Amino acid sequence: MKPADKDPKRLIVALDFVGEKETLGFLDRLDPDNCRVKIGKELFTACGPALVKKVQQRGFDIFLDLKFHDIPNTVAGAVRAAALELGVWMMNVHASGGRAMLEAAAGALSDIVCWHPHVIGVTVLTSLSDDDLAELGVRDPARDQVLRLARLCDAAGLGGVVCSPAEVALLRENMPRGFLLVTPGIRRSGDASGDQKRVMGPGEAIAAGADYLVVGRPITGATDPQAALADFMSEVSGNLPNPY
Ligand code: C5P
Repeated sequence: MKPADKDPKRLIVALDFVGEKETLGFLDRLDPDNCRVKIGKELFTACGPALVKKVQQRGFDIFLDLKFHDIPNTVAGAVRAAALELGVWMMNVHASGGRAMLEAAAGALSDIVCWHPHVIGVTVLTSLSDDDLAELGVRDPARDQVLRLARLCDAAGLGGVVCSPAEVALLRENMPRGFLLVTPGIRRSGDASGDQKRVMGPGEAIAAGADYLVVGRPITGATDPQAALADFMSEVSGNLPNPY
């Protein structure tokens, strides 16, 4: 697996579609040399591994965004299946599943030598406010909990976390080099923010230390998705810490 700082493909397009036809029709308009794609719970539940294979056959690497959260043995099995049966490039688990679950997720692939997908953590869902956390018994503000869970992911052997634009700088400052930060909530100036409350520009997020950006509607909803992607790519490449 290439380290992120040597990876020319920093954009992950969120395939938030409901069916196969719409998804594949959209992918006809994108070049797998320019981006990766994310398949989440809705599309995977509707179309399953068969669609994962079809998307891969078109040359796209897949971030499988299923946020596994269960007892350690079950999560380890799911991680192995995603790696060995589906061959995904990246997948995620909920950090709040605890140390044993995270270690099981990280260790599930330890005997695989040829191919190591990234396994990253989800810290605090961006839909949760400090009040929501308090109701769940978490007294610290969300930022403190995000950092605590990111450190737990790192200690357990996970490769990084998904984080909001608001957390990138905090995590980049506090987490070791090479710990991946994957960031949704990305908008160019002029893009509709939709239901995203706090957004950041692609160049700004990369400059703050994000490794990969997850972008959905500004590309999936564009009249010319390839042109929109190219636009995102140029903002990213102008802001990479180590351009190559
Ligand atoms: O369309 P948009 O660019 O807002 O899509 C962002 C993608 O990232 C969606 O698939 C969304 O579910 C996902 N995501 C997010 N915020 C998080 C975690 C995931 O927007 N905290």
